[in-house]
Order: sequence, then structure tokens, then C-alpha cells
Amino acid sequence: MSRTPLVDAWRRALATKRRPMQVPGHKMRYAQDAPGWAADLVGDTVGGDVPLQGGVDDNAFTNKYLDQAEALWADAVGADHSRFLLGGSSQGNIAALGTVADIDVPIAIDRTSHRSTQAALVISGARPVWIYPRLHPDFHLPIGMEASSITDVTEDVNGFFATSPSYIGTISDVASLVAAARARKQPLIIDQAWGAHLDFLPGMGAMSLGADISVTSVHKALLGYSSTAVVSMHDGLVARTTLDRWVDLTTTTSPSGTLFATIDGTRAAMERDGQARLELIAEAVADARRRLARVSGLVVLDDVNAGCRVDPLKLTLLLPGTGADGVALGAALFDMGHGPESADRDTLVLTATVADEPEWIIEFGEVLAALVESNRGEPRPASPLAVWRVEPEVVVTPRQAFFSDRRRMRLADAVGEVSAEQFCPYPPGVPLLAPGERVTQESVDAIIAAGKVGRVAYSSDPTLETIEVIEQL
Ligand SMILES: Cc1ncc(COP(=O)(O)O)c(C=O)c1O
Repeated sequence: MSRTPLVDAWRRALATKRRPMQVPGHKMRYAQDAPGWAADLVGDTVGGDVPLQGGVDDNAFTNKYLDQAEALWADAVGADHSRFLLGGSSQGNIAALGTVADIDVPIAIDRTSHRSTQAALVISGARPVWIYPRLHPDFHLPIGMEASSITDVTEDVNGFFATSPSYIGTISDVASLVAAARARKQPLIIDQAWGAHLDFLPGMGAMSLGADISVTSVHKALLGYSSTAVVSMHDGLVARTTLDRWVDLTTTTSPSGTLFATIDGTRAAMERDGQARLELIAEAVADARRRLARVSGLVVLDDVNAGCRVDPLKLTLLLPGTGADGVALGAALFDMGHGPESADRDTLVLTATVADEPEWIIEFGEVLAALVESNRGEPRPASPLAVWRVEPEVVVTPRQAFFSDRRRMRLADAVGEVSAEQFCPYPPGVPLLAPGERVTQESVDAIIAAGKVGRVAYSSDPTLETIEVIEQL
């Protein structure tokens, strides 16, 4: 069997001259010498697109290239079973939670988790019992879920869901979470969307640490085409057939073989010399961190000052001590062509990956240091993002709220009502208010404040003037 079944098959398919009388509509004509109609408008963008069905594989999937590539991925990350996804870790979270959830049954979920968990709750009907990562006493940022968050849950939940790494790069002690979930004989899901690379570092990936299901975005930390992700699992507390059912429920019937092939190629590259590459980049990030730590007043998150492990490829800068405004720095970086992962007033998050050159990361450390210096202001106390400490009153399940009759009213007048919708600052994509939660003065203030400095997504009124609340009985 080939070690890169999808990449090889994709290359063969692209090199084969044919005139298919089936979809895709672009007929794979635009990668060929004689460009097709409207090539000036679509040629470059669809040129490499080969469908899985009738392209990379035949119409009946006789060669099972996708199954082979998924098995190779599972093997590489220490899982029993993996499925490739084209709906990102958003789809992965829906499939993972759906596998564990039951209608009206409580499930313990990290309230700082990504908005896609809300979609899983709407689809599955499960009732969230919120659990929280520890907050850093000075930085007020999440520094990992602790085992006690699992052991302290008093309800009879049917699973646990935690996010690691967090958006800012802080990593939970997944082994201790696994032990706590095992003691309760319930499955543990780790949203490792930001940490696909951790699966290729010894003892750092959620699968190798024993989580029951993990979700990783191949397009974030690794080399996959945008929107590619993988959900992986261990046999035991969850059944393959259930995960497969949820993946199949949420997926397209016309997947791009090209996109899948980028997952396959990424895995092969990481198996070949990915660990050495990761170590090289991590060393450069450590170098940049040391340089930035010399900037007076600047805190650069690391394993020591965070009090937990920090993703070795993340540069997370805490700015209050420098007086610099992170939103302005973020905009300046974007204009310079170095768009940051996220930028709020106090925090800048920069993502390095295996595609970066180590020399560039070191040079970028200098660029950043100079930028902070030239934007220096009066030091100020930290004003952390509200999303890291939302403690909502869940009045009805997200599913009940989603399907309720709704009425629109002014957001400012909605205190005491129950939200039918989500208000989600993006990034980091964690909802300030979600369907089924009581609207409070605090949530209204936080939404308005977030709207003044950035994008608050997924609410029905982009001006944030009004909200849809449920018609209460
Ligand atoms: C923690 C977390 N999980 C899941 C997702 C969803 O990932 P994707 O964009 O691959 O759908 C994100 C996206 O930012 C995220 O931050």
C-alpha cells in the first residue's frame, strides 16, 4: 500500500486526460493545457480541484484511498480510528459531541470552548453543564482545565469536553483529565483544534495521552488546505459506528479529493521529519520570546509565567504594562502583511507553524519588539476579555431556545429575558451569550464593549442594537 494513498491518487487523476460526463461542473478542464470557458475567472482557483468520487477514486470508491489515508493518520497519532473532515474542527466538534450526547441529558462542557459546541448542543439536544479552565491570577486568562473540574461535577453527565490548547496557547494536563474522566467511566473529548502539531510531538497529543475523542484542525497549525480537520478516537467508551454516523450526518456528499489529499500529504510530511521541523520552529519561537521579554513592561506567555504548558509555537503578548493598544498593533501588523491570529486591547496572539522559516520568526521578534516600543503608552491595569469568565444561567437547553418562538427587542432592554441567539466575539469565537442563557446587564455591557473594538459574529442584528429572545411560557 502507498504511504500517501490520496496524494498519489490525486496526482494520477490530475495527470489523466479525460472528458467526464459527471460532476464536478468544471470537469477538471482547468488544470489541462487547453483552458476551458471563463478560465480567466475560475481557472486558477479550480485548477487543482479533483473530486474524491470519480476523480481521486472511482465512482464506487473501489480503491478505498480515503479509508487507507484515514487509517494511516490514526496510526500516526496513536488513535484507533480517524475521519477526515472538510468542515473544519467546527464539524469535528459537532461530530465528537454528538457521539457522546443524548437529548436532554447533561454533558459537561468547557464554557470557553468554541462556538461550534453550541451547534452540537442544538443538534443533539444535550443540556450543558459548564466547566471552566483555571484563570491566571494576574493575567485573567485561561491556563488549562484541571482534573477537579471533572471530579467536581455533581450531575450524572454522559461525557466531558475540554479545549486544549486554548486560543492563547495554554495547554491542559490532558493525562490528568483522562484519569479523572476514566474514574467516572465517562468519555473525554479534547478540542485540540489549535494543536494538530502536538500529535507529532512525543507525549503531547490528546490521542497519545488517552483522550477518547480528539478534534484537530489540519489547516491551523499544520499544512492542510483551509477547512481541513480530523476527528480521531479510541475504541472503548465510544463506538466507531456512532462517530461515523455523526461525521456522515454533518458532511458533504461531494468532498474534494484535493482537500483530503492535503491532509494525507501533511501527515506524511510530519511522519518524515515533522518532529525535527517543529523543534526548529519552537527554538526560534523561544528565541523571539526571549527577545520580546526584554521589552520593558511586556509579558510574553511561557511555561514559567503562565503556570501551565504553553504551545511552543505560539507568541502570546500581554500588553498592559507597555501601555500599547493591542488593537492598534494588530491593525499595524495586518497592514505590514503580518496579520496576527488575534488582537484585543491587552493581548496579541501570533501563530507560528512548520511553514515558517526559523530565521523569519527571529526577525519577526525584532519587528514586534520595535512595534511595541513605538506604540508605548501609560501602563494600565489589565482589562481581560469577558469571554474567559462567562458564567451564564442556563434557563432552557440551546436546542429548546433555538427552536422556540422568538421576538426581537432592543438589546439594552433585554436584561432578564432568555437569549435565542449567539453573540460571539471573533476571535476567539467563544460566545458571550448563547441560546438558552439568561440575558444579564453584564452580558449586554460585554457585547456592546466587544462590538466597539472588533467583530461580534453570529447574531441576527449585526449592529448589536437588538436581540432575538425566546417567547417565555
Ligand atoms: C478552540 C477551537 N475549536 C474549534 C474551532 C473551529 O475550527 P475550524 O475553523 O477548523 O472549523 C476553532 C476555530 O477557531 C477554535 O478556536
